[in-house]
Amino acid sequence: MKALVYQGPGKKVLEDRPVPKVKSPTDALVKIRKTTICGTDLHILKGDVPTCTPGRILGHEGVGIIEKTGSGVSMFHEGDHVLISCITACGKCEYCRRRMYSHCTTGGWILGNEIDGAQAEYVRIPHADTSLYPIPEGADEDALVMLSDILPTGFECGVLNGKVEPGSTVAIVGAGPIGLAALLTAQFYSPAEIIMIDLDENRLQVAARFGATATVNGGDGKAAETVMKMTGGRGVDTAIEAVGVPATFITCENIVAPGGTIANVGVHGVKVELHLERLWSRNITITTRLVDTVTTPMLLKTVQSRRIDPKRLITHHFKLDQILDAYDTFGRAATTQALKVVIDA
Ligand SMILES: NC(=O)c1ccc[n+]([C@@H]2O[C@H](COP(=O)([O-])OP(=O)(O)OC[C@H]3O[C@@H](n4cnc5c(N)ncnc54)[C@H](O)[C@@H]3O)[C@@H](O)[C@H]2O)c1
Ligand SMILES: [Zn+2]
Ligand SMILES: [Zn+2]
Repeated sequence: MKALVYQGPGKKVLEDRPVPKVKSPTDALVKIRKTTICGTDLHILKGDVPTCTPGRILGHEGVGIIEKTGSGVSMFHEGDHVLISCITACGKCEYCRRRMYSHCTTGGWILGNEIDGAQAEYVRIPHADTSLYPIPEGADEDALVMLSDILPTGFECGVLNGKVEPGSTVAIVGAGPIGLAALLTAQFYSPAEIIMIDLDENRLQVAARFGATATVNGGDGKAAETVMKMTGGRGVDTAIEAVGVPATFITCENIVAPGGTIANVGVHGVKVELHLERLWSRNITITTRLVDTVTTPMLLKTVQSRRIDPKRLITHHFKLDQILDAYDTFGRAATTQALKVVIDA
């Protein structure tokens, strides 16, 4: 089968690999129909993720059809259409019982990281019963690819942790796929204002179409000042960090209102300064989270009922044998205006 293989920092190839086998009774083999590329795959290619070693097939998102199941899989059968979750969960360990699947002792984020992933014709999914979701008949599979990772991430790490409420003021720093997913799902709670901050004018325009009430281009280095002016000097109730660099977390520290929440979503690779000398008295909450994907079934219903349309995040389509072009397009988002690229296997 064809597979996109990580070969060390800066190196990836489309290779011929053997089709994976069912190794454990709880595994399922899934024939991929659609997959996509995540910002985290670009982090891996930069060498930022040491758990992902050379030779690994990348990808932790996708939809497909069950090809084969182990003898212990009871929820899925050959031919079933399934959504792959970026998080593998046994459903039984202490963390899974606390709905913290991201820290499952035999799962978590392993797909396309510690085990071979979904940017291939087939993928082996461990703990299949609790790591796959059935796709309803007639569902739009392109839209559902957005449910493997980015929608639950924006919703759980940003909106839920950020305690977005009716009438509240929200700022989202970063209008990439994750920030935009937070923007779409924040609207479940009818906040009064959602201010979107980015450096990329095209992404800010997309954000305005997706329901942002205001956009701020932080290119002048004055994003926090602008947000403070917009909110009459009060700041925002929820500041969602969806970039993963020190500057944007500090923006959140500078715009959070008394009693507010900073919800960090971004993956940080370097130390970030925490200004407790200013924040200690402001009754704020700071949250961090690796996506748990516990809200996937709920989000699937909102997509099915057209309450949200994540397909709007898709800008490009490729075939699996063009996946290197897909990476190139996704990696140069500022010039290609790419958000999510869907790859048909
Ligand atoms: N916590 C989790 O479980 C989890 C899961 C998936 C992804 N992530 C992380 O979430 C983050 C966002 O992911 P993405 O795919 O949307 O990334 P992305 O790189 O596509 O988007 C980031 C956006 O931030 C903007 N930006 C960069 N510097 C900025 C600045 N100084 N001020 C304002 N905007 C700035 C960029 O223009 C871009 O639009 C990444 O760090 C990713 O690794 C976290
Ligand atoms: Zn991802
Ligand atoms: Zn578990």
